Amino acid sequence: MSTLHGRRVLVSAGPTFEDIDPVRFIGNRSSGRMGFAIAEAAIARGAQVTLVAGPVHLSTPSGVQRIDVRSAAQMHEAVMSALPADVYIGTAAVADFTPQHVAGHKLKKVPGQDTLVLELVKTRDILADVAGAETRPRLVVGFAAETCDVETYARGKLAAKRIDMIAANRVGIAGCGFESDDNTLDVLWTDGQRRLGPDNKRAVAEGLLDLIEERMTNA
Ligand code: C5P
Repeated sequence: MSTLHGRRVLVSAGPTFEDIDPVRFIGNRSSGRMGFAIAEAAIARGAQVTLVAGPVHLSTPSGVQRIDVRSAAQMHEAVMSALPADVYIGTAAVADFTPQHVAGHKLKKVPGQDTLVLELVKTRDILADVAGAETRPRLVVGFAAETCDVETYARGKLAAKRIDMIAANRVGIAGCGFESDDNTLDVLWTDGQRRLGPDNKRAVAEGLLDLIEERMTNA
């Protein structure tokens, strides 16, 4: 029987949208497909899955409890409220910065003004807060989308955010990462690493869950 059978698995997925005014926002290219594939694969292993989803166009895998959010602040609130869990997998591409003020009316062009400065403030780091929570899940897994020096940045995040495992994927290249059906992940933990893929996201999700099960058994 799977180690995940009966375990509570909490997954975050998709982008966040940070509103600038009633019609504009700052978003990113995350489709949410990796997180949804992980949620579906975890259900198939008998886990109880809660999926906190940013704005995506995907249907909910059968058996998954889905909570829809829009902003990084809402995602933080939803994820922290969904604890405790045995495993947290943070696949969401959470905005690192959000506008300090949301304009109540659509921002207008001003004649003679050729630049616009938006003041952004840092969002709260959900992954680090989950890893530091009193009800810390047994295994906290993060994702790191990078365009270069993938492994170096990923190892840095593993340590800085005090998480157990990080899945790094190279983005910005064709057939990989955001907006793609396929993915390649370099999964790193303190004393090891493994490459998953290139393969479709469901196969990569199965590989990641295998590694999570191994860590839960051995750690
Ligand atoms: O530091 P960076 O944003 O590159 O780290 C990516 C990882 O951190 C992802 O797992 C993402 O879900 C998580 N993250 C988060 N909250 C933030 C920013 C990133 O949980 N505010």
